[in-house]
Amino acid sequence: MMYPLTKMDNKVLINGLDLIDITEEFGSPLYIYDLDVIKDKYDSLLNYISYKNLKIYFAMKANWNMDILKTLEKKGSGIDAVSIGDILMAKKAGFSADRIIYTANNITEEEMDMARSQGVLINIGSLSRLKKYALKYPGTSICLRFNPDVMAGENAKVMTGGNLSKFGILLKDAAEAKAIADRAKIKIIGLHEHTGSGIAEAESVYQSMKNLLSIGELFPDLEFVDFGGGFKVPYAPSEKTIDYESFGKRINEIFTDFCESYGRELQLNFEPGKYLSAQCGTLVVQVNTLKNNEGNLFAGVNAGFPQLIRPVFYGAYHHILNLTHPDATEKKYTVVGNICETGDFFAQDRMIPEISEGDLLAIQNAGAYCYSMASVYNLRPLPAEVVVEQGKARLSTAHRSFEDLVELLSGGQA
Ligand code: LLP
Repeated sequence: MMYPLTKMDNKVLINGLDLIDITEEFGSPLYIYDLDVIKDKYDSLLNYISYKNLKIYFAMKANWNMDILKTLEKKGSGIDAVSIGDILMAKKAGFSADRIIYTANNITEEEMDMARSQGVLINIGSLSRLKKYALKYPGTSICLRFNPDVMAGENAKVMTGGNLSKFGILLKDAAEAKAIADRAKIKIIGLHEHTGSGIAEAESVYQSMKNLLSIGELFPDLEFVDFGGGFKVPYAPSEKTIDYESFGKRINEIFTDFCESYGRELQLNFEPGKYLSAQCGTLVVQVNTLKNNEGNLFAGVNAGFPQLIRPVFYGAYHHILNLTHPDATEKKYTVVGNICETGDFFAQDRMIPEISEGDLLAIQNAGAYCYSMASVYNLRPLPAEVVVEQGKARLSTAHRSFEDLVELLSGGQA
């Protein structure tokens, strides 16, 4: 059984509760998040990276469920926000402005002004935006995002470093960025980079850190350095993850060495999304149509890529369990969704215990970039979200019914 689910007496459990019982109570498709898993993941990162002035900013683009945000707020996390919507949602969950960093791309003038009026720290990733900011907000403090010049991540779409990516100011332009800021008496209190998502090679992270830190001395007013997210978690039972113990130690060393030469102890920031939330989530779907096309077995379920797009969009692997028959003999299935496109699948040619119509399947690691990337394509309901904590399940967000969608999206027309 893949973490965090367990099996007992032919039942698959989350936090001690039978996934089938939860689904029968709240209906499928259903997102289920284990809040205790998130708390454990948060604590584990603090343990691995022993640097004492460490601050975690949850990348809420991964999952902005209110119960997840509130849980992390209580743990003392900060927030990596990428839109004004993120900022408003984080504040609603209890985060004060000083715990939010706003890292948005290609923002408009209006968005910049809104972020300022929300009181959050703005992380600027282009010389063009920096110049516009400097005209309007001289004498203020900001963070600058640089491109670490390292390419890493679990697929090309989520590698954010290097010349081929749109992100950050190039390291070679650091002096120019500083000059623009200096002219407007803007204080650069933070440096930022983000290399990619799901980084499997620890060396890439160390290299990005060193590259960013190589320009550190240029900026005398630093309070923190933020190395983004990208911490990998396993998505398949056989997948190896990095050795977080030695990874944490090395990060600590690199940053401590830098602070010694810089002359001051700075705050060390990371912005994990997947690491904190991917494993806490499970999407439960129901098989309603089995089809055997010349030996190709299709299991058709009551959700599709509007509810969880990662397999289609990134070719991502999400482990799938048959909750109803967890111990049946395995057969090879393509698990497909209910959208009228051939590319709409959750798994291809996957060995799964034999499926009957009506069976419930659990799609694992559905806590990061799953519900948050949902869409209303084909106007099917958005699933409800249930949270589980200390052996109890409760509704977090009700599903959006057909009628809700029509009401919201028909533009108020009769
Ligand atoms: N910080 C910044 C500036 C980011 O752009 C991201 C992710 C993170 C932190 C968090 O990265 P994480 O720890 O979650 O890897 N939708 C894709 C992932 C996109 C990541 C975008 N940026 C997926 O489902 O794989």
